Order: sequence, then structure tokens, then C-alpha cells
Amino acid sequence: MINLPVNRLKPGMVMAQSILNSSGASFLTRGQNLTNNYIEKLRQMGIREIHVSSTLTSGPSVPPPEEVLQERTRAIAVKRVYEMFQQVSDSKTLDPVPLARASASIVNDIVARRSNLVQLTDLRVHDMYTFAHSVNVAMLSALLGVLCNLTAEELSELTLGTLMHDIGKLSIPREILNKPSRLNDAEFAVIKRHPIEGSNLIRSLPIPNAKQLSIVARQHHEHMDGRGYPDRRREKQIHIYGRIAAIADVYDALTSVRPYKKAYPPSLAYHMMKNCSAGHFDEELLGLFFSNVAIYPVGTVLGTTAGYGIVCRVEFGRTDLPVVRVFADKDLRLLGKPIDIDFSEDSRESINKVLNDRELLHFIHEMNFDPASLLLED
Ligand SMILES: [Fe+2]
Repeated sequence: MINLPVNRLKPGMVMAQSILNSSGASFLTRGQNLTNNYIEKLRQMGIREIHVSSTLTSGPSVPPPEEVLQERTRAIAVKRVYEMFQQVSDSKTLDPVPLARASASIVNDIVARRSNLVQLTDLRVHDMYTFAHSVNVAMLSALLGVLCNLTAEELSELTLGTLMHDIGKLSIPREILNKPSRLNDAEFAVIKRHPIEGSNLIRSLPIPNAKQLSIVARQHHEHMDGRGYPDRRREKQIHIYGRIAAIADVYDALTSVRPYKKAYPPSLAYHMMKNCSAGHFDEELLGLFFSNVAIYPVGTVLGTTAGYGIVCRVEFGRTDLPVVRVFADKDLRLLGKPIDIDFSEDSRESINKVLNDRELLHFIHEMNFDPASLLLED
């Protein structure tokens, strides 16, 4: 999988992510072949770069890993979150039924597709950031909720609550919300009001269970060490819904493109959350989370002590130790025949880095070799 600027796309390349249009419907779905028309439309939509499965434009294509959420479930959920923001901002009320249905579909998909690891493509949707982000956070939270053996009722409260977690952002002026540069202290103080505004708003809506549904909105920015906001709760004073949503929220924000940052690869998000966020997350939940979310998704190209290779398999519980098909030695000489190394079994070798898209393109152009072609051999 590689992230390509739109002006380098060619007809015949295969989408590794889905693109939603501004009403939340799918415009392009993963696995679809690009045509000149689509490429032109992407440019018109203002999209700068997208993930494709490989740079090959002819012959068989590498299918992207199967998603946890069905295309339709995701598209409808994004649309419902969008409509919820509209309805609440226009009339301060909400018909909870369509949103609750979307939430139930998310839970159903997660339960039905437990055999699929969450891979990068699950998270890549462009446009409508707040709405797509809410759906991603709900999906990841539902997944973590299932892993924690929450009851069906708890799962539905968690998931629906998460779809609404950022509704308090309606009270934040757009200039602050979409500011492309760093926020000053006064602006950050305004942002920090959204958990309280959001939970108050949810509690004022004529919906069943409003109190329970407001927990995620109120607590998703609390930290285990009491340094979060707005209530500086610590440890188990933070409801499990809040501890779960905090992990899902940060993971999705890190791996998404924002006006002020690039999308970080899952491995960097993992490193930042595991090693650079002491006191922020519930460690036990974080461990569970990353045993089910691919740190090196299939198709990631790695530099390792054994040479350069592409991830061809990832297993639950060992997402930091994938099976890698090594195709070049450390001096970038292509091997006659690629070798598979299972990092969970071979303790002599280790992973040094994830190649970024520029390094990967250089590789492809200099050596005229697309590592993704190796995935076709399975
Ligand atoms: Fe938030």
C-alpha cells in the first residue's frame, strides 16, 4: 500500500481506501480501479493524496485487506452523524432512532467480523473530518468494548455515545476549530470546553438514556494520571466508556490527515501512545487495543536487520511481530528469491523502520520494482 499524490495517479491503479463525498455517500470504494474520470474528480474534490494498493497499472491487482466495517455501514453512519450535527445545531433536538440504528450496525459488523484485524484501510476516509472521525472512534471503541466483554446494552451505549462524543464542538467557533496553525492558550481553553458543552447538550436532548450516553462526551479527554480535562478524574474515576474512547480518539486523530499534520502510520501512533504518553491511557486497555489493530498493516514496507521487506501477514496478539517477505538486502540489492521471515519466531532479527512514501517511491523508480507485486504470490 502506498500513499500517492493525486497528480501521480494513473488509470488502472487500485484504491486501497474509500473516499466519501460531502453527503457521506461512497464516491470511490476500496478495491476499485481508477480511471481518468475518477482521478480528475478527486482533483476537483480537493483531495491531495490517496492510498493505492500498488503502483501496478496492469495485470492482477493486490486486494486490500478486508475491512472490519462494511462500506455501507460506514457510509450510512457518517451520514447520520452529519445529520445529527445539522439537526442539533438547527433545532436543538434530535431524533435518536436513525443514529441508534447506525450504531447497532457498527456493533453488528464488529461482532460478525471478529476474525478481521483492523488494518490501515479501515480508517482512511477523507473529507468531513469530524463525522468520519466520530464513526472511526465509534468503530474502534466498539471493538475494544467487545474485547472487554461489555454486555450488549453497554456496547450500544458506548457506541452510540461515541458517535456523539464531539457534538460539543458545535459550540466552538469555526475559526478555532479549523485553524491550520497551533492554537494559542485562549483558543485552547475554548476547545477544552467541548466535553462539558457536549455532555450538557446530550443530557438536554429528549432521548432515552441521555445520562449514560453523555459519559463519552464528558470523559474522553481525561487522563489516567488526572492531568486530562475537564474534571481531572483519575484511574477508575474515569468510566470504562471514557477510558476506551480516549484510546480510540487519539489513535484515529494520529492516523488521520489534519490541517496541521500528515497522517502518521499506525506504527508511529503505536509508539507515541505506548512509549510517549505515560499516564494518559489505561495500559491494560491499550494492550488489548494494539493486539487487535495492525501496527504494521499488510503491504507496509519495512527496513529490518535482515534487509528490506513487505509485510505479508499479521496475526492477532502479535501485531508488532508480522511475517515479512524480504526482497532486498541491507545495501538495497534485490534478492534472487524473496525470503519470508516471521518476526514472532525469529528473535535474531528486528524491525528498524517503516519506509515512508517518498523512500518507497524512490525504491520503485530506482529499481523498477514494486514490492506490492510480491503479495500476489500468496
Ligand atoms: Fe474531543
